[in-house]
Amino acid sequence: MRGMRIAVVFDTPYEGWTPEDHAARMAKEVANWKRDEPEMEYQIGHALLKRGHEVLLAGIRRDIGEVLPLLAEWKPDLVVNGAESYRGLAELDYLVPAVLEAEGYRYTGSPPLALLVTRNKAMSKKVLAYHDIRVPGFVTYRLTESVRSAPEVAFPLIVKPLQADASAGIAIASVVQDREALAERVDFVHERFNQPAIAEEFIEGRELYASVVGNDDRLEILPLTEMVFDPEKTKPEERIATQYAKWDEPYRERRGIRNQFARRISKAARAMIEETARTAYRALWLRDYARLDIRLTAKGEVWFIEANANPFISYGHDVASAAVKAGMNYYAFIQRIVDEAMARYERA
Ligand SMILES: Nc1ncnc2c1ncn2[C@@H]1O[C@H](COP(=O)(O)OP(=O)(O)OP(=O)(O)O)[C@@H](O)[C@H]1O
Ligand SMILES: [Mg+2]
Repeated sequence: MRGMRIAVVFDTPYEGWTPEDHAARMAKEVANWKRDEPEMEYQIGHALLKRGHEVLLAGIRRDIGEVLPLLAEWKPDLVVNGAESYRGLAELDYLVPAVLEAEGYRYTGSPPLALLVTRNKAMSKKVLAYHDIRVPGFVTYRLTESVRSAPEVAFPLIVKPLQADASAGIAIASVVQDREALAERVDFVHERFNQPAIAEEFIEGRELYASVVGNDDRLEILPLTEMVFDPEKTKPEERIATQYAKWDEPYRERRGIRNQFARRISKAARAMIEETARTAYRALWLRDYARLDIRLTAKGEVWFIEANANPFISYGHDVASAAVKAGMNYYAFIQRIVDEAMARYERA
């Protein structure tokens, strides 16, 4: 296939950087890949170059107005949306595809609706309950509400910010056994994150990630990955993807935490996971690629935890590893996302 003109749009900490500045930085980070992994947007840009595309690296520091003139002049065939936040706020990430849509650009990944609904951990569960997917019971506490009485869901509960991601606010202390601890953690979430809190029934089980690529009835569920915990170094309620468990290498080592391809799963459970992933992907209007967080109990029950409409797709992390396992190298995986988006626009 002929190379395309592809703009990568992303949030950046660098004030006033031009596409050339980012291209220079990308080259530098890619050259240093073995010592330190490049930013996701640079990994994507590099993969697109390797696949023979022309690439424009358009970074948003504060305002999408910074990149609109660049796009208008450069006229991309497609925009890869790599924006994980807007003005430093993850919950405003939907604004980037919203504006791309308003400006008439073709772009990769989920539409604003899917980003909004999946970000709200209460709303997404309500939608999936309609489709008979098993979701933990939950209660929400708005900023003006504190815990006054016992909730109508069973302890233990896990308390999370309603619309954060990357395990922000998730710690061992998030799992609470009684009303007092619940009240305390809800207040903590309110104060620390300035957003509502959700308290969900704690599902004890294996921590699985289903990465999905495709659209409509052509969905490919990539090989499942799993976060495993050393049972000798953790109690069951400590086996969760906290911020440390996810991002802190020395901590992971101490506690025997690893991300790997899923260990043995029964045929029935695997079929249920795949069906859950397909149904959830469609019900939440996800597009091109996404990652679903799932828990599998000892009894073989499959529980939906969360959908990530704009997942982390850097090399060596769950989604990209699953793609590699499925036979795509990293460059081919990024190309696949481009192909899925283009095919979707061609069909429309
Ligand atoms: N109801 C639950 N029962 C058991 N564990 C849970 C539950 N909800 C969350 N967890 C644990 O906490 C982790 C983080 O929760 P969740 O995925 O909702 O947050 P997040 O910050 O949006 O994560 P991500 O990094 O995937 O964006 C989960 O991966 C899981 O280990
Ligand atoms: Mg998650």
